Amino acid sequence: MICYVLLVFSILVSLMGRGEGATAAYEPTDVFLFNCGAASDNVDENGRNWTVENLKFMPSNSVKDSISLDALYQESGVPQVPYMNARIFRSNFTYSFSVSPGWKFLRLYFYPTRYGSEFYSVNYFFSVTVNNFTLLRNFSAHFTVNASIQESKYLIKEYIIPVNQMLNLTFTPSLNSLAFVNGIEIVSMPDRFYSKGGFENMITNVGSMVESEIDNSTAFETVHRRNIGGRLVSDVRDSGMFRRWFPDDEDEIEGVVVSFPNAKINYTDKTPAYVAPEDVYATSRSMGNLNNDPRLNLQRNMTWYFTVDAGYTYLVRLHFYETMLEVNGTNQRIFSIYLGNQMAKQVMDLFWLSGGTRNPMFLDFRVDVGFANRTKSNIQLDLHPLALTGAWFNDVLLNGLEILKLSNTDGNLAGSPDLTPNPVTQPIKKGKKSHVLVIILILVGSTIGLASFIVVLMLSMRQMKRKKKMKENSVVMFKVLLKQYSYAELKKITKSFSHIVGKGGLIDT
Ligand SMILES: *[C@@H]1O[C@H](CO)[C@@H](O)[C@H](O)[C@H]1NC(C)=O
Ligand SMILES: *[C@@H]1O[C@H](CO)[C@@H](O)[C@H](O)[C@H]1NC(C)=O
Ligand SMILES: *[C@@H]1O[C@H](CO)[C@@H](O)[C@H](O)[C@H]1NC(C)=O
Ligand SMILES: *[C@@H]1O[C@H](CO)[C@@H](O)[C@H](O)[C@H]1NC(C)=O
Ligand SMILES: *[C@@H]1O[C@H](CO)[C@@H](O)[C@H](O)[C@H]1NC(C)=O
Ligand SMILES: *[C@@H]1O[C@H](CO)[C@@H](O)[C@H](O)[C@H]1NC(C)=O
Ligand SMILES: *[C@@H]1O[C@H](CO)[C@@H](O)[C@H](O)[C@H]1NC(C)=O
Ligand SMILES: *[C@@H]1O[C@H](CO)[C@@H](O)[C@H](O)[C@H]1NC(C)=O
Ligand SMILES: *[C@@H]1O[C@H](CO)[C@@H](O)[C@H](O)[C@H]1NC(C)=O
Ligand SMILES: *[C@@H]1O[C@H](CO)[C@@H](O)[C@H](O)[C@H]1NC(C)=O
Ligand SMILES: *[C@@H]1O[C@H](CO)[C@@H](O)[C@H](O)[C@H]1NC(C)=O
Repeated sequence: MICYVLLVFSILVSLMGRGEGATAAYEPTDVFLFNCGAASDNVDENGRNWTVENLKFMPSNSVKDSISLDALYQESGVPQVPYMNARIFRSNFTYSFSVSPGWKFLRLYFYPTRYGSEFYSVNYFFSVTVNNFTLLRNFSAHFTVNASIQESKYLIKEYIIPVNQMLNLTFTPSLNSLAFVNGIEIVSMPDRFYSKGGFENMITNVGSMVESEIDNSTAFETVHRRNIGGRLVSDVRDSGMFRRWFPDDEDEIEGVVVSFPNAKINYTDKTPAYVAPEDVYATSRSMGNLNNDPRLNLQRNMTWYFTVDAGYTYLVRLHFYETMLEVNGTNQRIFSIYLGNQMAKQVMDLFWLSGGTRNPMFLDFRVDVGFANRTKSNIQLDLHPLALTGAWFNDVLLNGLEILKLSNTDGNLAGSPDLTPNPVTQPIKKGKKSHVLVIILILVGSTIGLASFIVVLMLSMRQMKRKKKMKENSVVMFKVLLKQYSYAELKKITKSFSHIVGKGGLIDT
């Protein structure tokens, strides 16, 4: 049985793999990928080309201000490229990259370990600035990785920087310290991609409900990017910007996962294919409980908590795509969106807002997270079904989420150092003990020639293992049994495939 599940899954994965070219809808004008301290060009495990640092981007005195060293260890799970060599900085060191004007992704790669005989990352703190923005202040890659709840041994920091012509990236060691970096990546993006607002070209300020744009004196740091209900989407599977989308299992959210992994997403002018890859739109999370007693959902919220630095404003981008064929008109699935306990959008009718057919869409919100007296805080996202007349589908839906920190007025993005465990840092997690009930339904053969169609319905029930930090009144999901989905089609298929039930982290990559 397990073999069968794996077989079906591998077919699925291979089908998804084929879409790669088609989903890479953005062609970046600038792509720099520097393997710092490396002696030769290298290809990473995803087939991307990393080059040695181009001397024209380095200060003329770079030779004496920095050294290249090889890592002494390669812990399991740490890729060779770009992490096995580093450039170590003895004093202030600036790379000057000349790029086209506009916002750029800047990604910094760190693997804190021992390099050569003299450099042990545990001893060193440093700051990083770009043009006039402070990205990291008295930062320890070592303690940040050690404090992360992820088991990853390396760290990727992603920023979005407005650039006129020069991107000057400066590493400044703290007193009696050294600085280091393993890799530097710069990738362009569509014009004002995160600053001019979402789908409707507007950013709603939660609280005041005023709409605004973000001007080019603001830089961003990506703090969360999730493929809700889905699996890890690696850099090369993004829609051309090499973003990484993480599964939301970590948020310990419960509910029902509904996927259309092989559906061709019909991108639109308002939501072009570069906004997010098909993998993101094709999977969603909902409350479930549909045919049992959907009205129970009206008494609940579906709630996520995202750890962030206190004292900053955040851009929250939510991605939506209707993954249930049964929802085929306006006024059927309607819900409210709350951020930080405040109303962000009262009436979310995806079918109506996205233009009446099955279209992807996204919404942008701005949320202020006050200081209180803490350095860390949460952004709470609540989705609540609305029982308007005729809204028979009492459920919510979310497909993807991005949370970006905005630089404050003095150009600072550096929060307090992460010295205690918190979920802010990113990379790849190991499989986690969880009870996932995976039910895979296959419906092959459609009226139109080659079109084949796969529905994956994954019901996941998790033990509530909420961290203490998180507040109590959160989501309580209920048991969802397959039978409750008695839509004619699904039921039929379910019968023939009811033996395809497996458990374990199949969705984890
Ligand atoms: C990497 O570089 C090699 C040779 O320089 C080239 O053939 C290959 O197409 C490049 N790969 C990518 C993904 O750009
Ligand atoms: C290095 O940069 C820091 C911060 O910009 C500055 O305070 C310090 O004077 C610089 N050190 C040198 C040697 O230039
Ligand atoms: C970047 O550095 C170059 C060379 O040092 C300098 O001419 C330029 O003004 C700097 N640009 C910015 C935006 O800081
Ligand atoms: C950086 O800040 C300095 C002083 O605050 C200012 O003169 C300069 O124009 C700023 N540079 C950029 C690129 O904003
Ligand atoms: C940097 O952080 C370390 C460890 O928290 C601390 O000992 C040191 O004083 C800090 N340095 C500065 C300049 O803040
Ligand atoms: C890593 O963190 C653990 C606690 O989470 C601590 O006991 C340990 O000393 C830390 N290791 C280093 C090298 O900082
Ligand atoms: C910001 O926009 C103004 C006006 O369009 C432009 O003059 C300026 O160069 C831009 N600055 C950056 C850093 O892109
Ligand atoms: C919507 O779906 C229902 C069944 O779920 C069906 O009866 C109805 O005809 C569909 N409406 C449209 C406009 O396709
Ligand atoms: C849902 O969340 C909002 C905002 O946090 C809250 O005001 C409301 O009471 C919650 N509703 C339920 C049913 O928990
Ligand atoms: C995409 O649009 C085409 C043409 O309008 C339609 O036939 C198809 O069903 C749509 N696909 C989805 C997944 O909605
Ligand atoms: C932070 O605020 C809480 C209550 O708001 C208070 O109990 C606590 O003592 C404060 N902590 C500090 C360090 O001020």
